[in-house]
Amino acid sequence: MRKQTGPDDWREANRARWDERVAIHTASDYYDQSAFRRTRDVIRDFEAAEVGDVTGRSLLHLQCHFGQDTLSWAHRGAARVVGLDFSEPAIEAARDLAAELGYGPDRAAFVAADVYDAAEAVPDTAYDIVYTGIGAVNWLPDLAAWAETAASLITPGGFLYLAEFHPLGDVLDETSGSQVTYDYFRREAWDEETPGSYTDFGAETVHNRSVEWLHPLGDVVSAVAAAGLRIEFLHEHDMTLFQRFGVLRRGEDGCYRFPEGRPRVPLMYSLKATKPA
Ligand SMILES: C[S@@+](CC[C@H](N)C(=O)[O-])C[C@H]1O[C@@H](n2cnc3c(N)ncnc32)[C@H](O)[C@@H]1O
Repeated sequence: MRKQTGPDDWREANRARWDERVAIHTASDYYDQSAFRRTRDVIRDFEAAEVGDVTGRSLLHLQCHFGQDTLSWAHRGAARVVGLDFSEPAIEAARDLAAELGYGPDRAAFVAADVYDAAEAVPDTAYDIVYTGIGAVNWLPDLAAWAETAASLITPGGFLYLAEFHPLGDVLDETSGSQVTYDYFRREAWDEETPGSYTDFGAETVHNRSVEWLHPLGDVVSAVAAAGLRIEFLHEHDMTLFQRFGVLRRGEDGCYRFPEGRPRVPLMYSLKATKPA
């Protein structure tokens, strides 16, 4: 696997960006906290089907943001969930949300730490399920170290589950989603200034720099396999969770797809990999 390159201050730049966006996100329609307080569950159908029954299991959520997904797994019966994110404001918001929903720290704990420091930062040595994704790996420069960290935190017989936006989506033009416009094999970071957020493009923000990487699908699978996990499946999906390209149509299930009759490319992928018992 070839190495990604990027600026030394990627972590500080990204953390400042995410810290500032927590309050915007918790107040947004996109994350609709009042609906979440009612339903307590935002896990997408394909994730629920692929992860399976979590009743009684322990689950670690890497890059948990302010905890909606993490707490959803608790609602679905996980005995103990731990969320980790490097944004202190995100972790504070997650703890508040957990307390509001009546989950004590034994049931739902949240830790502020970089994903690469997860092994030292989380309260338990290992978990039945390590769950991550939905806009997570693109913030990380070193997939090998990420996969090793995740693998080290899985109980033997347990698994990693990753659901992500497909890297093919990063190379197509934003409007039609049909022109190959960007290089799939680029190694350099996208180091950009973009105000606002995906929840509110017009939001006034100060910390606008983001440093992100495109991880080809082969690199993700190879990193997970090299970390000693057995790939159970790699699924590619014809849908995504937001208006990635102007041409996509929102379906009744809330997911976005290419219009009928248009040749499709995968827009998301999901992977399950087990730690040998
Ligand atoms: C798009 S969100 C994760 C998606 C989550 N499912 C959601 O929408 O609520 C990405 C998260 O990654 C976190 N993050 C980015 N880089 C990180 C790092 N190096 N270590 C830990 N967390 C990181 C950010 O703070 C942010 O909360």
